[in-house]
Amino acid sequence: MSQAKGLNLTLKIWRQQNAKSKGKIETYQIENISPDSSFLEMLDILNTELIDKGEIPVEFDHDCREGICGSCSLYINGEPHGPGKRITTCQLHMRSFKDGDTIYIEPWRAAAFPIVKDLIVDRSAFDRIQHAGGYISVNTSGNTVDANATPIDKHDADEAFNSATCIGCGACVAACKNASASLFVSAKISQYALLPQGQVEAKDRVLNMVKQAEKEGFGPCSNTGACEVECPKGISLENIARMNREFLAASIS
Ligand code: SF4
Ligand code: FES
Repeated sequence: MSQAKGLNLTLKIWRQQNAKSKGKIETYQIENISPDSSFLEMLDILNTELIDKGEIPVEFDHDCREGICGSCSLYINGEPHGPGKRITTCQLHMRSFKDGDTIYIEPWRAAAFPIVKDLIVDRSAFDRIQHAGGYISVNTSGNTVDANATPIDKHDADEAFNSATCIGCGACVAACKNASASLFVSAKISQYALLPQGQVEAKDRVLNMVKQAEKEGFGPCSNTGACEVECPKGISLENIARMNREFLAASIS
């Protein structure tokens, strides 16, 4: 069986020493990349070549490499997570590119996600938003109520589950012209707003999480829906509508 022809590519990669230094695009040539390689494997190959030449490898974030952790935040050819729908960068394969292509690889661009080095950004702003209200209080002192003892409407359970699939990758922020975190924040609010277990802190949750997002420097919702288009988990704009309803109700009660 004949093997698929390897790809010869030009890579234009954002290099930046640290948060304070000025970055710039550097050009690299890479040859004979298997179309079956993942995008991150292609970067691994590039880094091996750079190390062999005594050059500094390109820093990029990754962990699970199976679309779960949300850390592989790369802006590829002007699109968060590159071409392809409902996938993260680690799920992108080189067969999405053609021999001779030039590929631009940049970090997320948002003031609330400062660049740490090269392609790595600091997404701890998302953690602080979560800490502001993304939790429920459950008695774990030995008197814990069995979760199945509380009946939940199937539709609500399914919707809450869909919202909970947000992996906190930040592609929604990178896609938004206002660098808004509305889709992320609304997913984290919705997963509890739809469940009885989330009602105790509901009012404080929406007020505190929205306030924290503003404090972190994320912009207002642009109403363009770019976030939903680029979200690898298909988080729906309906979450933002739900967050706005929750916020209004909490503000006037
Ligand atoms: S809403 Fe989608 S794009 Fe935004 S952080 Fe969650 S999974 Fe990523
Ligand atoms: S490395 Fe975990 S989602 Fe891509």
